[in-house]
Amino acid sequence: MSADPTETPIARPLECPPSPEPPAPARTAVFTAQGLRKTYQMGEVQVHALVDVDLVIYRGEFIVLLGPSGSGKSTLLNILGGLDRPSGGVARFAEHDLTAATDAQLTQYRREHVGFVFQFYNLIPSLTVRENVELVTDITTHPMPATEALGLVGLSERLDHFPSQLSGGEQQRVAIARAIVKRPEVLLGGGRIQRIEHNAHKLRPAEPSW
Ligand SMILES: Nc1ncnc2c1ncn2[C@@H]1O[C@H](COP(=O)(O)OP(=O)(O)OP(=O)(O)O)[C@@H](O)[C@H]1O
Ligand SMILES: [Mg+2]
Repeated sequence: MSADPTETPIARPLECPPSPEPPAPARTAVFTAQGLRKTYQMGEVQVHALVDVDLVIYRGEFIVLLGPSGSGKSTLLNILGGLDRPSGGVARFAEHDLTAATDAQLTQYRREHVGFVFQFYNLIPSLTVRENVELVTDITTHPMPATEALGLVGLSERLDHFPSQLSGGEQQRVAIARAIVKRPEVLLGGGRIQRIEHNAHKLRPAEPSW
């Protein structure tokens, strides 16, 4: 059955012009990488861990990097976290060029802006849970109390344990508490982080200073 062209359509077309699209909220780039490369020289052999990586990560995003073992995930995180320098390309945190930063500026960046959960946790075995986290509160500007960070990851009952007296998951939670206690603007984590969602809504970063 074909439609009768003289038939009045039931829905009258809108006579007013469409209103302009509301402007999309501006997105703030936190990390930008352009042509990022990292080559490790091992004697005669070159390991190309990163080859021309481009990416933008915006404020408020929760990003998971997926890739086979050895594909360069930790290498990329180390560069974005100011722990390592690329062999080429540019990496920026907000408008700051991490590749041009001095060692002192990178130290300041790591200390004040970045929470890092290492793939192998890197807890200090001779310090208690509370002391491992207090190491950070002693050197940062706007930390929350160590006990508060440990409470957020559910470890209030383990403050005086040493790392060897904790389960693997509890050790990882100490590492998370140590990363969030400084109220970092970005949180980077290597390996499998199982508990990052726990109380994540309570993590209020300090106001960005950039
Ligand atoms: N310091 C280093 N010196 C030489 N080669 C390195 C160094 N660090 C990493 N590599 C090599 O660079 C490549 C990328 O390593 P990276 O640690 O970034 O991988 P990954 O994706 O994090 O792997 P995994 O999932 O196993 O943690 C690997 O082939 C690794 O052997
Ligand atoms: Mg890794």
